[in-house]
Amino acid sequence: MTPTYLVTGGAGFIGSNFILHLLRAHDDVRVVNVDALTYAGNLENLTSVEGDARYAFRQADIRDAEAMTALFAEFDPAYVVNFAAESHVDRSIADPGVFESTNVGGTVNLLNVARAVWERSDGTFGDHRYLQVSTDEVYGSLPLDEPDALFTEGTPLSPHSPYSASKASADLFVRAYGDTYGLPVLVTRCSNNYGPYQFPEKLIPLMIRNALRHEALPVYGDGLNVRDWLYVEDHCRAIDLVLREGRVGEVYNVGGHNERSNIQIVRTIVERVSEAVDDPAIDDSLIAFVTDRKGHDRRYGISPEKIRAELGWAPETPFDEGIARTIDWYLANPEWVERVTSGAYQDYYERMYGDRGTAGN
Ligand code: NAD
Ligand code: DAU
Repeated sequence: MTPTYLVTGGAGFIGSNFILHLLRAHDDVRVVNVDALTYAGNLENLTSVEGDARYAFRQADIRDAEAMTALFAEFDPAYVVNFAAESHVDRSIADPGVFESTNVGGTVNLLNVARAVWERSDGTFGDHRYLQVSTDEVYGSLPLDEPDALFTEGTPLSPHSPYSASKASADLFVRAYGDTYGLPVLVTRCSNNYGPYQFPEKLIPLMIRNALRHEALPVYGDGLNVRDWLYVEDHCRAIDLVLREGRVGEVYNVGGHNERSNIQIVRTIVERVSEAVDDPAIDDSLIAFVTDRKGHDRRYGISPEKIRAELGWAPETPFDEGIARTIDWYLANPEWVERVTSGAYQDYYERMYGDRGTAGN
């Protein structure tokens, strides 16, 4: 039988890449994109599949029990993949409430609906599966002076930001529904993604956009915080693999052993963008060290050993190739960038950076 995926948050960065991946990878598939279209949701990411008979979009909020129940009834999904979330750490520091409401409340609502619709009279759930797209940020922070230390699935959860606390809470609810009700759940915890369609509030697209406009490149603190970068397509493959072949009830870390400091990332972008558009005015003088993010996690480093050993997953896109592809995509799609950086975004940008000043001020 043709499997139906109900993908929440499918108009966002990773969700839209995941939908494009599914429709490329499988002929025999139905994909329902359920998205509330917040500032981060952009249906323009999916114009290439709008006419595809295997794809449908419904605008709805994962916190709305009635709407979710109706969607389960309409599409009878075999799989739910929950991407829908508030995803930006800086926004969570400025306004934590909606992170609790969407990331925790929305997830619990989806779990309740999945359980109510999927559970049979004998308490079993057939072949249904619910996958929660969690994050490596639930593990907290690693020190810079222990480069061999990595997050494993057994690392205790220790979130620091309102964003990561909300994701950790959702992650725990998902596993609690597995343990308590037998709901067939899976959890993935991935490191930082980059690639096409990422909203230009996140480090890589923000730096590409600012560099092209000869605007300051705001690096938080000393720029030595480390993130483990994975090309988004590799994350999408991992999610689909875990959904289809992972062991129900398990958590799988996803990461690429590609740790870089923020200042390294920014310098790489400066060099490559300058070369790509042949503009020597794009140089390191644009870099501005600004006041650090509150509670800024120092280092993320993930061990993807379990998903490699159990499911044979490995990243396929080396960073050099992924960053070149990403920069090329942003250069080729200036209208996309302009449209998402609309008035609402500008207000946000002003609030976030307007009075930030430079480090030490
Ligand atoms: P994003 O902000 O680009 O997209 C989030 C999407 O969710 C948007 O389309 C938005 O409209 C939708 N949404 C928000 N609230 C909703 C609601 N109440 N109901 C329905 N839809 C709603 O985020 P992203 O970067 O694509 O991240 C997707 C998921 O992956 C998130 O759960 C995030 O925590 C997780 N994750 C992200 C990364 C990363 O590096 N970006 C890494 C690991 C995990
Ligand atoms: O690790 C996975 C997480 O990665 C996901 O769960 C989140 O949804 C996603 O947003 C991302 O979180 P980060 O906080 O790591 O990503 P961000 O792009 O916001 O920042 C990356 C690093 O760059 C971080 O150390 C903060 C720094 N930074 C960020 C911005 C936006 C700057 O120095 N300057 C900036 O302007």
